[in-house]
Amino acid sequence: MTDDPPGSRRPRRLAPLRWSVATAAFQIEGARHADGRGRSIWDDFVEMPGAVLDGSTAEPGPDSWHRWREDIALAVELGVDRYRFSLSWVRVRPEHGRPANRAALDRYSRMVDALLDAGVAPFVTLYHWDLPSVLEEHGGWLDRRTPFAFAEYVQTVVDALGDRVADWYTINEPVSTTLQGYAIGELAPARTLLFGALPTAHHQLLAHGLAQQVIRSAGSGRVGIVNNHTAVRPASARDEDLAAAEVYDLLHNRLFADPVLRGEYPDLSMLGVPDLPVEDGDLALISRPSDFYGVNYYNPTRVGAAAPDSPIPFEILPIEGAPTTGFGWPIDPQGLRAVLGQLADRYGDALPPIVIGENGASFPEPDHSSHTIHDAERIDYLARHLDAVEAARNDGLDIAEFTVWSLLDNFEWADGFTQRFGLVHVDHNTSLRTPKASYSWFRDRIAASRAQHEAGAGA
Ligand code: BGC
Repeated sequence: MTDDPPGSRRPRRLAPLRWSVATAAFQIEGARHADGRGRSIWDDFVEMPGAVLDGSTAEPGPDSWHRWREDIALAVELGVDRYRFSLSWVRVRPEHGRPANRAALDRYSRMVDALLDAGVAPFVTLYHWDLPSVLEEHGGWLDRRTPFAFAEYVQTVVDALGDRVADWYTINEPVSTTLQGYAIGELAPARTLLFGALPTAHHQLLAHGLAQQVIRSAGSGRVGIVNNHTAVRPASARDEDLAAAEVYDLLHNRLFADPVLRGEYPDLSMLGVPDLPVEDGDLALISRPSDFYGVNYYNPTRVGAAAPDSPIPFEILPIEGAPTTGFGWPIDPQGLRAVLGQLADRYGDALPPIVIGENGASFPEPDHSSHTIHDAERIDYLARHLDAVEAARNDGLDIAEFTVWSLLDNFEWADGFTQRFGLVHVDHNTSLRTPKASYSWFRDRIAASRAQHEAGAGA
């Protein structure tokens, strides 16, 4: 758990970094009732009184269900290699066990074609948190049937789009669903099961394994999971704080990476929880090699021992003196470098090329703006995290891609429209899109990097 940059890897010549920008269906699509869409746990969540900070419902927001051509134009103008977006399970399969929704598949299909025509590769996230409500009623990710239902949905998607989509993320950030969704209830489905939430980790990983199998069987391109990683910093060198930090590292990072990259769960015995519901063959499936390993990184986490009466054995503490984002998240690019080095140290040759699936920051910005927003703090955040990525690449780590979260200001889950992560400002009442200064900066950064590479290749 050190923050030392990795030192001993042999530098090798890496392909130029690919560039990407990301969104997720529920956060941008709006239009909840359009085209036969079904109901997801996020529809339930936004209707729970007080659950969303500003009471917003994700409507209209960017209204990308209708305005997707504008999003593609913005991605094209940025010059990204790929556009990462998620599909809505409840649009594709509005009712579990019933036929797929052609209208939704056709709409996603047109979007894929438009991206390909414009020279931007579609990078599809199959699951970004919007579980069908009907599955949650049967236990959601606590229930072993959910990963198999997911695999059926994935088969539908691959049948419809697999001839053109070559890059797939299976599950986005299972840790967020387990810890925030099922353990403490900050995200949908708002359950507060504490360690009783842990079976959801295994079922999401099983869903990853099954989805990967579907994509492999169809011969349909490259696939991997995308996990959120944090650099865990013990509050002090005291044994209690070191032990608490280790538990947090285990729950946040290793619980989700070890099974994928090592084929085994870390030892959870210190938590005093029942064994995970692992059946024969599950781990072999979960650890089948992927084409890449997705890493979302936002901030480091400082962890100390909890008070004696706490139901959980750690406490998350502020990092004194660290600059913070609008969310109050500490800004520390060295944390990204530490995460990348730690992955290489822990998983060695089992680690496929890393794709940074999300990195970005929210800062306070007006809801309406008639002029360009000069978001210097976001530019600084991204530039410094990109430096960390470049430093890790110079150390020989195979980091293939960098993705900014997010293309657009969007519905920031339980925080509603109060946190803005976009390179493009969105007026959430009119859905008007206005690029910020960070959008031009990122466009220029991509162009400069390409020019530099071409000059190098020509030399
Ligand atoms: C999620 C995004 C979210 C972002 C900022 C990530 O954990 O994948 O959906 O908007 O963090 O909170």
